[in-house]
Amino acid sequence: MNFTGAHILSINQFQREDVDRVFAVADKMEPYALRKRVTRVLEGAILGNMFFEASTRTRVSFGSAFNLLGGEVRETAGFENSALVKGESLQDTARVLSGFSDVICMRHPEAGSVADFAAASRVPVLNGGDGANEHPTQALLDLYTIRKEMSDKGRDIDGLSVAMIGDLRHGRTVHSLSKLLLLYNDIRVVLISPKELTLPDSIVESMRAAGVDVTVSHELTQSIADVDIAYSTRIQEERFSSKQEADLYRGKFRLNQAIYTQYCQPNTVIMHPLPRDSRKDANELDSDLDDNPNLAIFRQTDNGVLVRMALFALVLDVADKVDDFSHDVHWYNSRQSPSNS
Ligand code: CP
Repeated sequence: MNFTGAHILSINQFQREDVDRVFAVADKMEPYALRKRVTRVLEGAILGNMFFEASTRTRVSFGSAFNLLGGEVRETAGFENSALVKGESLQDTARVLSGFSDVICMRHPEAGSVADFAAASRVPVLNGGDGANEHPTQALLDLYTIRKEMSDKGRDIDGLSVAMIGDLRHGRTVHSLSKLLLLYNDIRVVLISPKELTLPDSIVESMRAAGVDVTVSHELTQSIADVDIAYSTRIQEERFSSKQEADLYRGKFRLNQAIYTQYCQPNTVIMHPLPRDSRKDANELDSDLDDNPNLAIFRQTDNGVLVRMALFALVLDVADKVDDFSHDVHWYNSRQSPSNS
């Protein structure tokens, strides 16, 4: 894949060597993400960060990643603050905003909308989540986290068993992560969801065609007994026709410390793209897991900045120049290591 000037819209664009390239650049970003050093390699560049659906992590980590490379961020959040509410098309919005920006990140509630926007954009567009379709940068940071967590345990991505738990029908992060895992060898995936919320058949078929050993399950405890990674997800309430419909599925597959201790292997890594739904009736990942050293959820969010810095550096063709525009920091810095949570 030629990253320079490319839109990043789907995991379908990636081969294994492309993922390796992103991860190698992400590794080099750590001193900058930790503020041990400062780089100004993207000085003068502008990110248009356009989020037409709620977001905390993706929006802020894209912005932080761009700032950490020395660029500036202009944000639009919510339809109500854009001319889309006046009837402007996404394509016209793309034509206008790509005149103001050097790269654009976008989240939108409709599947395919970010690709439609990108087709009219004059600058690269990164998909920050398009409806229930895909969230490619989340999948890259998830796999980057898996690689780091397993490498600490002397393992590689090849040969892993991964359980994906929750709303697999609407969860765009599991769609993208499933597509990414099929690039690796000897992968076993256990798909744990209510019967009505299974992973789309097309994705299951592509995984099986690529040699992934896929098991579908509708119960939690026995299904997580022998996995390396337990990847929990939220019921995606915003994709249902009503809150009442989402309520039918909420709280069905709760993972807590007692279940973890009884059923999981002692080193099973617990992941979640976040936000986790911490309301009483949901609570798919209990806060009593917060002291469990295998809970990687906040390491995932930290890693998101590294991976997004890498994507910006590759798309804007500065990956090999980051250190040339760098210097030490001179202020007190309490952020010396990634989150241990
Ligand atoms: N994981 C994720 O997409 O989180 P946000 O919705 O907060 O961006």
